[in-house]
Amino acid sequence: MTNSKLDRRLFMKGAGAATFMTGAAAIPATSAVAAGRGQMQMSTAYNLDEEFNRIGSGDFKWDMIRKANRPHDVPFPMGVADMDFRALPQITQALQKRLNHHNWGYEAPPADYKQNIVDWNKARYNEDINPDAMVNCLGVLDGVTSALVTWCDPGDKVILHTPNYSSFFSVIPGSLCELAESPMILNDDGTYEFDYADTERLLQEGAKAIVLCNPQNPTGNCWTADQLRRLGDLANQYGALVLADEIHCDFVNKHATYVPYASLGEEYAMNSVTQKSASKSFNLAAHRTAYMYSKNKDLIDRIIRDGIHHRGLMHTMGTIACNAAYKHGAQYMDDMQAYIDGNCHYLESFAAENFPLIDYKTHEGTYLAWLDCRKLAEEFGEPEGDTRIGDVMKQFFIEKAGVNINPGENYGITGAGFMRMNLGTTRHKLKGALNAMKAAMDAL
Ligand SMILES: Cc1ncc(COP(=O)(O)O)c(C=O)c1O
Repeated sequence: MTNSKLDRRLFMKGAGAATFMTGAAAIPATSAVAAGRGQMQMSTAYNLDEEFNRIGSGDFKWDMIRKANRPHDVPFPMGVADMDFRALPQITQALQKRLNHHNWGYEAPPADYKQNIVDWNKARYNEDINPDAMVNCLGVLDGVTSALVTWCDPGDKVILHTPNYSSFFSVIPGSLCELAESPMILNDDGTYEFDYADTERLLQEGAKAIVLCNPQNPTGNCWTADQLRRLGDLANQYGALVLADEIHCDFVNKHATYVPYASLGEEYAMNSVTQKSASKSFNLAAHRTAYMYSKNKDLIDRIIRDGIHHRGLMHTMGTIACNAAYKHGAQYMDDMQAYIDGNCHYLESFAAENFPLIDYKTHEGTYLAWLDCRKLAEEFGEPEGDTRIGDVMKQFFIEKAGVNINPGENYGITGAGFMRMNLGTTRHKLKGALNAMKAAMDAL
């Protein structure tokens, strides 16, 4: 029996997620490798094809979605932006070692914590981060909030190019700023472009900052140096700060390039703050550990002084997890990225053959696919009242396919007709989800 038939049979039998997980055929390991440079000798094997069971840990992606959608089962939750793989073994080993101390008093991050962040970014992106102009935060969004609160006065406009990551729609007002949406331009090839004229209009109206997402969630764009420079020139001309959220930077497909905003040159670096974390790359979101940095040390000092989140203390387990990830995870990250690249290509060819109503082309960065469902949306017609077409399509896929994907409107009204699908999962689950979606759409 082929895998797709197996997936389909399991789904059609109404197999619950637990049944799906335990019944799944084991796919031979493709990624059992020893991790990269300068590492301790320990067991480092991992298998990205492992059908790892997340159910019961209390997570948002599996447990919350399944609970919220009862009586429908959701064996394919592909909404929340985290991944379904078992953590890098050295991360778990480092955490276990610390657990054995049975002591949770105040403490500093590991001594080499900042250096490992510096080394990771230098080795992978040739970025030179000054560890004295870097500050830890309890999440990228907390860092964005601190920077906005420091830089802006209450009521100042902050530009967000949409569609864009949903939480910015609450974090910008939550920082007492006014969200100034600038809809992006959709190119014929499915990539997006900033609307520079509209951006300049907002800057002329007094916008004080631009929140930039690079690589972009949800559209998957990796911005080119030219695009970033053009945007940065406008920001610099009008004195607006660029807050570069580069949390997804480790996920860049083979045909694409990630350009760190701070690498554009001195004038851009001095007028920006970059936000990063190991949380997407190594699936550590629950550990609440991130960092931000700038070439402009005065600005970082101001954020430490005036930003509401920076009392300087960090989460013990989070810093240990991040440290182990950056220290031991280079090879794992390369394998993970190649695996996600494979998922994107699998989705592209599956959609071309089987989804007449959904368009998708392998995107550039992040593990999030931005599905063009505008033809599917037409099948459902105009929704009634306040219901969004994305909610109609989400419910359709939950009820008829057991697949949870996110409505495009979550990322701004310009996202209507699109759906975001998380590909941070095994090929086996992805195949199961796609077969189930095909069956649901074929029956329309
Ligand atoms: C672009 C972007 N920024 C920030 C976050 C959240 O980061 P954190 O959990 O560190 O606040 C996410 C999570 O999906 C994201 O996609």
